Amino acid sequence: MKILAFGGSLRSGSFSKTILNESVKLTPENVKMEIFDIGQIPLFDQDYEKDMPEIVKNFKQIVKNADAILIVTPEYNYSIPGFLKNAMDWASRPYGDNAFEDKPAAIISCSTGMLGGSRAQYHLRQTLVFLNMHTINKPEVMIPFVDKKINNNELTDKETKDKIAGIIKALADWAERIKVK
Ligand SMILES: Cc1cc2nc3c(=O)[nH]c(=O)nc-3n(C[C@H](O)[C@H](O)[C@H](O)COP(=O)(O)O)c2cc1C
Repeated sequence: MKILAFGGSLRSGSFSKTILNESVKLTPENVKMEIFDIGQIPLFDQDYEKDMPEIVKNFKQIVKNADAILIVTPEYNYSIPGFLKNAMDWASRPYGDNAFEDKPAAIISCSTGMLGGSRAQYHLRQTLVFLNMHTINKPEVMIPFVDKKINNNELTDKETKDKIAGIIKALADWAERIKVK
């Protein structure tokens, strides 16, 4: 079982990047989780969707090879950051070659505010519907006041760790359940 994880934010000291890194540590031993850094992906340009930059080709192939996808997102203006949507737009193209097609998925959101990025999470879910991904509904993991739960790029909050471990296990179980035998 291979889970591809991506998201975070570009800034150094990003809390969502820490959550992404912690997710790897909280992945069970029988599951492999790898992070892809989408920060270097250029802006989507449909003129190049049939001859994509190498980094995008690489990202698309890694998405295709994954058994499941974990997306960790902060909330930007009630939605997801532009660079995250941008990476997903590339990998969904050209029409008929959507790398996300049929992939099991889970979302973790976080924010320094009290709603934990829930609005970004529902925006993202809407996109995943169009990409024909199978996103688990529960457990929902929305991490509020994330800045109070991280110290020196380490997640210190036990309850949040348990929630992250829970959603990763649920994603791996779900991916196993819906796998074509
Ligand atoms: C452009 C921008 C927009 C933001 N909009 C929201 C928002 O709509 N809701 C919210 O709860 N937090 C919002 N925040 C605060 C983020 O939750 C907070 O900066 C968070 O730490 C960003 O994630 P990061 O630490 O991974 O960079 C916003 C931050 C930025 C930079």
